[in-house]
Amino acid sequence: MKAIIQTHYGSAESLKITQIDTPTPKPDEIQIKVMATSLNAPDWRLLRGKPFMVRLSSGLFKPKHLVKGTDAAGIVTAIGGNVKTFKVGDEVYADLADSGFGAFADYVCIDEKLAALKPKTLSFLEAASLPLTAITALQAVRDKAKVKAGDRVLIVGASGGVGSYAIQHCKRYGAHVTAVVSTGRIAQATALGADATIDYTRTPLDQVSEKYDIVLTINGFYPLETYKKLLTSTGHLVLVSSGKMSQILTITAFGPLLSKKGGQTYSGFLARPSGADLAHLSALIDDGHFMPVIEREIAFEDIPKWIGELEKGHVGGKIVAWVNQN
Ligand SMILES: NC(=O)c1ccc[n+]([C@@H]2O[C@H](COP(=O)([O-])OP(=O)(O)OC[C@H]3O[C@@H](n4cnc5c(N)ncnc54)[C@H](OP(=O)(O)O)[C@@H]3O)[C@@H](O)[C@H]2O)c1
Repeated sequence: MKAIIQTHYGSAESLKITQIDTPTPKPDEIQIKVMATSLNAPDWRLLRGKPFMVRLSSGLFKPKHLVKGTDAAGIVTAIGGNVKTFKVGDEVYADLADSGFGAFADYVCIDEKLAALKPKTLSFLEAASLPLTAITALQAVRDKAKVKAGDRVLIVGASGGVGSYAIQHCKRYGAHVTAVVSTGRIAQATALGADATIDYTRTPLDQVSEKYDIVLTINGFYPLETYKKLLTSTGHLVLVSSGKMSQILTITAFGPLLSKKGGQTYSGFLARPSGADLAHLSALIDDGHFMPVIEREIAFEDIPKWIGELEKGHVGGKIVAWVNQN
């Protein structure tokens, strides 16, 4: 089968399209014929092996996982002996971040618990835009920030995959959403439901006087002092990501210590792939409460080039690619 592989850390040129053996499912696994995939920010971090910390899980000196790719939408082509939820022919989607990746290939095998039936109303290409980013946004909004009706939420970096899905989840929970985006992304954020926008190219956040119950940081970087000033006295900062790794490490390790009892709280956040959450997302989509945000459709062969573009940090929405069209 064809696959995009990586044998050493480096630039997008270290990715190669080649032929490898087709994987067969273990007892708890399903084999998926991948119809479509999408690109994610972690793709380039794993490509580079940077920051060095990512190598603790991805391989110290060379990548542990040969085939790249996190998001898969496709058809079940074989099942292991213990599989109960799926049958051959089911149309599914999955986030492979905790199962060795492998979505940039004709076939991948994963534990059945990580997959869900894809939304019936979406194409494979649309479904592939969702797993990692929409579930990250869901878990950050629902489980970590615990957004509820009436909350005033500030989303910093609201135009990428995670951000554009976070706007939609916050709106579903009845929050008032302010999206921090660049000038060209204001219309997209508003169309997705943002009640207000801040153009970060014109208004630095340290000049904003409004207060928010929740600040969700997904892209960009501001010092903790700036976020503290934006929060109400009992507000909650949830750091999904940051332009500075040192800030992620500080908040993840010391957030609970820095937080004040009965006052402001500061939390790091790590998403966990979940078939159950994907099934929940499918229901939301088929009921018309959530939609994919696709920026660009590219050819399978162009995936390495576009992972290089993602590293520059200014691709909004999601980039999707067909792996097999029939
Ligand atoms: N914690 C977790 O479990 C978890 C899980 C998945 C992903 N992540 C992380 O979440 C981050 C976001 O990922 P993503 O997929 O949404 O895409 P991304 O490629 O990191 O985001 C690109 C978007 O960010 C915007 N942006 C760039 N600089 C900005 C700034 N200074 N202020 C505000 N917006 C800015 C860009 O728009 P403009 O250029 O127009 O501003 C673009 O639309 C990544 O760092 C990723 O690694 C974390």
